[in-house]
Order: sequence, then structure tokens, then C-alpha cells
Amino acid sequence: MLAAKPMPLDQALAQTSLAVDAYVKAALAEFDLPVAKAMSYAIEGGKTLRGFLVLETARLHGIGAGAAIPAAAAIECLHAYSLIHDDLPCMDDDDLRRGRPTVHRKWDEATAVLAGDALQSLAFELVLGTECSAEARLDLARGLAKASGVAGMVGGQAMDIAAETATLPLSLADVEALQAGKTGALITWSALAGPRMARSDQRPLRAYGDAMGRAFQIADDILDVEGDAGSLGKAVGKDAVAGKATFISHLGLDGAKRLAHMLVDEACDALAVYGSDAETLRDVARFVIARNR
Ligand code: IPE
Ligand code: IPE
Ligand code: MG
Ligand code: MG
Ligand code: MG
Repeated sequence: MLAAKPMPLDQALAQTSLAVDAYVKAALAEFDLPVAKAMSYAIEGGKTLRGFLVLETARLHGIGAGAAIPAAAAIECLHAYSLIHDDLPCMDDDDLRRGRPTVHRKWDEATAVLAGDALQSLAFELVLGTECSAEARLDLARGLAKASGVAGMVGGQAMDIAAETATLPLSLADVEALQAGKTGALITWSALAGPRMARSDQRPLRAYGDAMGRAFQIADDILDVEGDAGSLGKAVGKDAVAGKATFISHLGLDGAKRLAHMLVDEACDALAVYGSDAETLRDVARFVIARNR
């Protein structure tokens, strides 16, 4: 019998989005508060790339979606929290996210801060419900704490904000460190979910996640320059106005695109040990720099 052909990536991402939405909404169903409505709103409409990486790297290790969905929902809650706070007036001051008003515009700043806080807490509650050994759960949760805090996302965001008013521009090495924190850490955590759950070698997927995360943020920076606000669902042209240090401010558009392609190749090569079974993950890496949203 022929093996079933995997579904196209856009369909697989859309299916993950529905599954994550449903899982998070079930966890919020009993709360009839504006903050819970804002949490639910913030989960909707994303690409669900991080959640998909969790499910796909789990599948690669023989673990089904039913066991891994709590971890996929957890990372999407963590990511949604980071976006709510990133959009606040004291950070990037954005009015549009995923084609809709940002949470502080639809509700108010206090609700946005609290919805972000509670999504972060919910992320840890959910990740602790992942179906795997107690050791693996601990490793997932500890890894998520590290990836989201000062050693990861928050540290990178702090460097990003500080750079706006610094007298000296950041070096390329500083931009790399900033990116590795603000975007890379959560992406690498997502790619490591499968080997963590299976208690197997994390090295290939760490190399994949690190390279793909770098390519992902370069693409985000390129889309801020060349993208279309309508398809992106968020404002464009903001990084240069805010004086952000990006890959483009250092390498120019062409240099940034060349680097992004090299990183996608590096990410794909890192999957060699998995052979053709990792083809979907290679598709993800290629998608990351080909996307228009
Ligand atoms: C946007 O992330 C923010 C960055 C980390 C650069 P995504 O492009 O994954 O956003 P959604 O989840 O699809 O909206
Ligand atoms: C946001 O980076 C990264 C996090 C939320 C951690 P950006 O500020 O570049 O993301 P966008 O462009 O607003 O989505
Ligand atoms: Mg930002
Ligand atoms: Mg932003
Ligand atoms: Mg951006």
C-alpha cells in the first residue's frame, strides 16, 4: 500500500490553528470576563507556526497530536501574550494585529496587560498537561520558562526597545543576540518539543530551530519593508521609523535575503538524520521566507 501523502502545508497549518483555538477556548469557556474574551481573541487568526512545529516534531518521534496538543496550545498562548504586550503603546504602539484591532484598542490597556499575563500563566498550566513522562513534562516546562524569560523572549524584547534610544547603533552581533532572544527562543523551544517528549537527541532539531528562527525574523524584518499591510494584517514600515536595529539596517535588503536563504538551507541540512520523514519540516523552513504574512 502507498503511504498517505502529507497534506499541503497551508492546510496543515490551518488545521493546527483550529485545533489550538478549540483547545484554548475549552480552557477559557467557564470564564465570562472581558479578560478571558480578550485572551480568546488574541489566540485567533495567527499562522500557528510554533504550534505546528510542536505537533510535527512530536509526529517525527512517533507521538500523536492528541498527546502533543497541550504543548502546541501552550506555545501559542505564550506567543499571543508576547504579541499583545509587543503592540502596547509603551512598546511598538500598534493598532492592527492579524487584520484586526490590537487587544488594547479593542478593549483597553489594562485588559491587554492582564490578558497577556494570564495567557502566560495558562501556557504553563497547559504545558504541564502534555501527555508524556513526568521527566519530559518537567523538561518542557523548564525549557519554556527559560525561552520566554530574560534569557529568551523578554531579554530580546528588552534589547529591541533599548536599541530605539541608544546613542550607538547595535552591531550585527548584537542584532543576532537580540533576535535569538525575541524570536528564536520560542521557535527553538517549539522545534525541541518532539525530542523532549520522546527523551531523544535534541541536537538536530536545535540546529534546525536556531537556523529557521533566524530566517523567520529576517523575513519579518523584510516584510516590514516590502510587505503589504493588507495581507500581513499588521502595519508596515515601522522598524525604520522607530529606529529599530534589524538585519536590513546592517545587510541591506539583498544581503538580508541572501542570508535568509542560506539559513533555510542550513535548517534543512540539519534534518539529514530524519531523511524523507522530515520533508514537512523542510517545507516549513522554506515557507518561512516565502510567506507574505
Ligand atoms: C510575529 O510572529 C512576531 C514575531 C515574532 C516576529 P508570527 O509571524 O508568527 O505571527 P502570527 O502568530 O502568525 O500572527
Ligand atoms: C515581536 O517582534 C517579537 C515578539 C512579540 C516576541 P516584532 O515587533 O518585530 O513583531 P511584529 O512585527 O510586531 O509582529
Ligand atoms: Mg517589537
Ligand atoms: Mg511589533
Ligand atoms: Mg516585526
